[in-house]
Amino acid sequence: MDSIVVQGGGELRGEIPIAGAKNTCLKLMCAALLSEEPLTLTNVPRLSDVATLTTLLESLGCEAALLQEGQSMVLSAAEISNKTAHYDIVRKLRASFNVLGPMVGRTGEAIVSLPGGCAIGARKVDLHLTSLEALGAKIELEEGYVHASAPNGLKGTTIEFPFVSVGATENAMCAAVLAKGTTVLKNAAREPDTKALADCLIAMGAQIEGAGTHEMVITGVDSLHGTTHKVISDRIELGTYMIAPAIAGGEVELIGGERALVASLADKLEAAGIEIADTDRGLKVSRKNGRVKSVDVRTEPFPGFPTDLQAQMMALMCTADGTSVLEETIFENRFMHAPELIRMGANIDVQGGIATVTGVDQLKGAPVMATDLRASVSLILAGLAAEGETKVARVYHLDRGYERVEDKLSAVGAKIERVPE
Ligand code: UD1
Repeated sequence: MDSIVVQGGGELRGEIPIAGAKNTCLKLMCAALLSEEPLTLTNVPRLSDVATLTTLLESLGCEAALLQEGQSMVLSAAEISNKTAHYDIVRKLRASFNVLGPMVGRTGEAIVSLPGGCAIGARKVDLHLTSLEALGAKIELEEGYVHASAPNGLKGTTIEFPFVSVGATENAMCAAVLAKGTTVLKNAAREPDTKALADCLIAMGAQIEGAGTHEMVITGVDSLHGTTHKVISDRIELGTYMIAPAIAGGEVELIGGERALVASLADKLEAAGIEIADTDRGLKVSRKNGRVKSVDVRTEPFPGFPTDLQAQMMALMCTADGTSVLEETIFENRFMHAPELIRMGANIDVQGGIATVTGVDQLKGAPVMATDLRASVSLILAGLAAEGETKVARVYHLDRGYERVEDKLSAVGAKIERVPE
């Protein structure tokens, strides 16, 4: 397995194109199962997670064709020939659990492996299942698989989520678009990915009001048709590359970046002393004066600070002037990057869901390893600011969610390369 090696020091200058959003694209791909007609996606990110989900969709009978070197994809689910989503694939990619809602909505039946836990927490699916039950599906658990059936179709209802879940909101929305009658989703996720999924479903003929707000009203229709849909920019990739010049110094323009996608991060970076400006093509981020100032961060559902940027922000705070408190409220075990950053000389104290970070004058390069995607990239960011060499092992996590990370960072002057282990 490859590693990424970073030689720290040196400012970043230039531009980085932001890819299509992984989390949006994966849910749009699942939505292709809702129609007999093809769904064409453009601005598709070239990521291993996209390839994994393509394999799953193909196993269900969906035809997939990649165009323009993988940047466009046509998914055609004229027929769903197999209703079982196997553990072998679902365990690799939790988002594949989101084939459940579309399959039950369209065919009245689905057998989907439970995704299991993962490094960042238990990540239950109870809300996915209770919302499908509320829509009239019978749910049985057998040998690690969810059997969902609704032979007479789903029926609209009111579902109030006890807390915000992105995946459960999206699964319920996809199930409800073909249900009979009206479904109201209360305390729904407001993430841009969820709104983008609703926009695509509407373009396919669904009737959805209130996407992007706490309450969505979905009026079921008989069938959906095909469409062509552009995947929005990846706000987590954008946020990660906004933090790159903040930690390394310099000025980077993020092509395709939009402040509205990352407003909570942009506010925090500005409070830390980073300059952010809108440009014709995206956002320009610069660190002109010395060290960044410490800021406190609490992760929350959108529009709050994203949990998927917490690790990267922690890397930045390791180099800040002062002490910052980072509170993780979404996942119970999402500080695995802290011990690795400590190996690089960081001063971090973790107590439960709270990390207290006191900035140090200089991080030091070290061999490090991370067990999840965002943690891995936080170590690369730390490596940009560290003295000497940082070697990040287990690169497959990065390839799940970052398109050519070493190419994008070396294009702005970082000394970074991929090496075989
Ligand atoms: C999605 C994102 C992920 C992001 C997360 C939170 C995708 C593919 N992934 O994950 O990158 O970090 O949103 O913004 O879109 N929960 C339950 N029961 C459920 C569902 C969730 O207890 O049935 C809990 C989870 O364990 C977690 C919290 O709710 O603690 C939020 O999870 P959720 O919003 O569902 O995250 P995902 O959709 O899995």
